[in-house]
Amino acid sequence: MTIVERIRGSLAAKVLVAIAAIGMVLVLLISAVEIWEEGGVLIAAEKREAQTAVRANIDTLALALWSIDKRSLDITARSLIQGTSIFRVEVIEDGQTQLKLDRSTGPVETDYSWEVPLLRPNTQQAIGTLRLWENYDNARDQMKSRAAMLVVTETTKVFVISVLLFFVVHRAFTRPLSELAHKVQSLGGHSGKISVSRPYHKGHDEIDALVDAIEASNATRKRLEAEQRASQTREAHAGKLEALGQLAGGIAHDFNNILGAILGFGGLLAQDVPAGSMQQRFAQRILLACERGKELVEQILAFARAEGPERRIVDLGAVMRQNESLLTASLPRSTRLDFIHAGGDLPVFSSEARLSQLIANLCINASEALEGRSGVVTVEAARAALGEVAELMVKPSTSGERFDGNVDPSLEFVRLRVSDTGPGVPHDILDRIFDPFFTTKGRQRGTGLGLAVVHGVIESHVGACHVISRPGEGTMFSVYLPLAGKQRAPNTESKAENQDLHGHERILIVDDEQDIVDMLSIGLGRLGYETVGVNDPIEAVAAFEEDPMAWDVVVTDQVMPAMRGLELIRKLKSIRPDIRTVLCTGYSDGANEAISLAAGADAFLLKPLDAMRIAPSIRKLMEGQKAPLGADFEPIA
Ligand SMILES: Nc1ncnc2c1ncn2[C@@H]1O[C@H](COP(=O)(O)OP(=O)(O)OP(=O)(O)O)[C@@H](O)[C@H]1O
Ligand SMILES: [Mg+2]
Repeated sequence: MTIVERIRGSLAAKVLVAIAAIGMVLVLLISAVEIWEEGGVLIAAEKREAQTAVRANIDTLALALWSIDKRSLDITARSLIQGTSIFRVEVIEDGQTQLKLDRSTGPVETDYSWEVPLLRPNTQQAIGTLRLWENYDNARDQMKSRAAMLVVTETTKVFVISVLLFFVVHRAFTRPLSELAHKVQSLGGHSGKISVSRPYHKGHDEIDALVDAIEASNATRKRLEAEQRASQTREAHAGKLEALGQLAGGIAHDFNNILGAILGFGGLLAQDVPAGSMQQRFAQRILLACERGKELVEQILAFARAEGPERRIVDLGAVMRQNESLLTASLPRSTRLDFIHAGGDLPVFSSEARLSQLIANLCINASEALEGRSGVVTVEAARAALGEVAELMVKPSTSGERFDGNVDPSLEFVRLRVSDTGPGVPHDILDRIFDPFFTTKGRQRGTGLGLAVVHGVIESHVGACHVISRPGEGTMFSVYLPLAGKQRAPNTESKAENQDLHGHERILIVDDEQDIVDMLSIGLGRLGYETVGVNDPIEAVAAFEEDPMAWDVVVTDQVMPAMRGLELIRKLKSIRPDIRTVLCTGYSDGANEAISLAAGADAFLLKPLDAMRIAPSIRKLMEGQKAPLGADFEPIA
């Protein structure tokens, strides 16, 4: 590094150069002025001295001239040019030079020349003139040596002061600053307090402010990085669950059709075999297994965020009360279950089944975490404080805590909180608890779907979940669901018990699954209906067009390769607008109740189905009632 680069890179060196340069210029200027003044004083003193000498000797000179005493004239005149600034004298009488004395041997510059009249003793009569020439080289020489002295002493002072300042600036500022720069650089990805050693330092100055600012910006950067990492992890996790959800939804759809066939044919079998026989018990076992399969499909579909058709505004508090006795009865006695109901409505756009699933899964986990020891599980529901979710969203994630959910924090939320006094979720598995099939209970005791379902339910409500786990103290799950608006009147529709499901109408059954077509045809046929089944919608249109008035009801599947059920319904309605139609669909078929009814279907049913489940809708349609229209909810947004 060259000296110029060093100076450019060092604050102290810059200060040194600046002070030295400015100091030098000032010192030279001040010295010049001082010497100028001193020179003036010195020359004035020499002039005065010369005049005093002339005054002292003028009478002697006049007398010597009057008495023509050449020797005295010479001696007196010579005394004038000795030790004064006068270097030449001339005595002139009647225009004639009587005496001329010159001290110098070579040419001398005249600085000043003057004349004095020589008067006859005791009279005022002029008898001659004394001419004098002065030169101030002596004063000038003195001034030069004085100037040299001044320049040397003053520049030395300036230099010494500059060097001292250099050290002070270097120790007090430059060194701490370069140490600070070094520490900030070496800080890299690590956090930590920056401490800079600073001599002669008291109080809080600009460098301390700089250190504080760097620390603050460092902390902000770290927080943002942590948040970004957490959000990336959340996104990756959400993406994984989304993909799993789609896969699970697809499987559940096909599985529903298979279950439907087993359920339907199993039901027919149960009707056909003698009552109380071994075969009937077997058939009932098949039906029971199907029911369990249905529940499993529902769980998978809930996780898959499939839109259930039955969503409407429900009160979370009411659902909690419905579940309280059931859960109290089903959980072990060692678990004390405390339900805390907040006053007021807690409307959520959801379904009782979904909310029950949420509460039950969280409570079962909490109770299972107690592992038979006595403990408390508390279930609370209340409106979340304004800004509570927003705060959780921006809070940096810490160990033992996790937040999931990409919600609009400006909305109002209802909070369902389930906390337990169990051992807490180990921190190293907290990231995985919502993963489907993740369980620590072994395959015999857990499927690992409980929290995956909770996650799916929360996602389908565009809600969020916050978990805090304290080892040895317990776990707290807080679920936030958007608060819904106007409460809809509770569903008073009651299941018609012992309703006569028999009829004689002509029904066209359309499903691409031959098993389903057969099962429904036989089942509805046994209830007295006249059925025709086809597994191609195009064929169905052709059969309908042949004689539209021959049909009373069309029962169709939604997802079929050649044509969707809703499209088929539209086509049939364009031929005969008053034809009654029933749309059967799985959760993930892209049609829900509101869409289907708006698109022209008269009834909407969820698979798996059998004749006994379809017949009530057929009866309702034939008796002139329309299925309920789409939900008239109004979510707060
Ligand atoms: N309240 C809790 N306290 C401690 N650990 C919990 C709690 N809730 C969940 N966990 C942990 O999260 C894991 C996943 O829970 P999840 O409900 O998904 O599955 P599971 O309970 O193991 O099985 P399943 O619910 O299907 O019977 C559990 O195995 C358990 O380790
Ligand atoms: Mg569980």
